[in-house]
Amino acid sequence: MMITYLFPSTIIIGVLSIILFTEASMFALFTLLYPFLYLFELYARHQRHKLAQPWSANNKVILITGASSGIGRSLAHIFAKQGSNLILCARREDYLTNVANECRDHGATRVITVKCDVANENDVSNLIKTIEDSFNKLDCVILNAGVTMGERFENIDYQIIKDIMNVNYFGSTNVAYKALNLLKKTKKSRIVVVDSLAGVLPLPLRSGYCGSKFALRGFFETLQVEVWEHEIFVMMTYPGTVATNINEARLGNNPIPLNMKGAMSVDECAKIIYKGVCRGDKEIVFTAGGKLGRLMEAVFPNAFAHLTRKFAWKAIAADDS
Ligand SMILES: NC(=O)c1ccc[n+]([C@@H]2O[C@H](COP(=O)([O-])OP(=O)(O)OC[C@H]3O[C@@H](n4cnc5c(N)ncnc54)[C@H](OP(=O)(O)O)[C@@H]3O)[C@@H](O)[C@H]2O)c1
Repeated sequence: MMITYLFPSTIIIGVLSIILFTEASMFALFTLLYPFLYLFELYARHQRHKLAQPWSANNKVILITGASSGIGRSLAHIFAKQGSNLILCARREDYLTNVANECRDHGATRVITVKCDVANENDVSNLIKTIEDSFNKLDCVILNAGVTMGERFENIDYQIIKDIMNVNYFGSTNVAYKALNLLKKTKKSRIVVVDSLAGVLPLPLRSGYCGSKFALRGFFETLQVEVWEHEIFVMMTYPGTVATNINEARLGNNPIPLNMKGAMSVDECAKIIYKGVCRGDKEIVFTAGGKLGRLMEAVFPNAFAHLTRKFAWKAIAADDS
């Protein structure tokens, strides 16, 4: 009696599991549900934007790390034009002073520069203390300071991996950690991470850089879950190649430069980030290739890895491929 009951149910459960859980049926199920999931995505995005807005940069207090050049400098210009209060930090004081003057000319309400190596804990504490003393609040922190590399892992001095992590990952997480109390004091505050497509897709000769940028994604996606109740909005941005002097910020003895052919202009990149900050976006993945790559990796990881091995070298200067 027991056997006649159990035998057919085992077969039914077995067949159902095969149908439901093989990759092909999962994919078919996903395709079937796609329109509903897409509608849910639109709904969730709308809910987030509704909470994050209205938000205007005018008179807001904005901290930008790595503001002495490139994307950080361009972002500083845009916020200056909106009448923001700016705290600009980086290591090169003379460059910072120039950017600060440019921002004053553009109409910034108030600009403060702080010499700060984000990898140095005391510097970061001093930076946050300066903001407390000057404004006692913070509306938006843009974690942009970063360095890169350009060599095979087997050839580098391992210290480079640590140095990159210290700036890109520990520098950014430490600034966020120390700025959190100030961010909690303001409504709808923002944490913006200038990550990279190298934080989503592997890029040869950039193992330490990709590692630090992938790590930022894991950290800040998790932080968003924790700080949601304080209405702090974390935005991840993943730019592709942007025409800056990032190649000069490569660590190592003989680093290969990033191929800048077809790079986006720095002002265009900053404009896209700025608009996302105002909307309160969750993330911005730059370029069609970046979006497609991320989707492909999630659905077809082996095919994605195969293509990566073949084509990722193209992102590196032609003489190394
Ligand atoms: N350019 C691209 O193709 C690209 C693509 C995707 C993502 N990104 C990311 O965008 C961010 C900005 O890079 P960028 O392209 O604008 O290059 P960049 O012109 O070299 O800017 C890097 C900025 O980071 C600052 N910085 C570096 N190390 C620092 C430290 N230890 N403490 C404080 N500030 C530090 C630099 O200032 P000081 O040297 O004066 O300290 C500089 O202001 C980086 O995080 C980079 O990974 C760039």
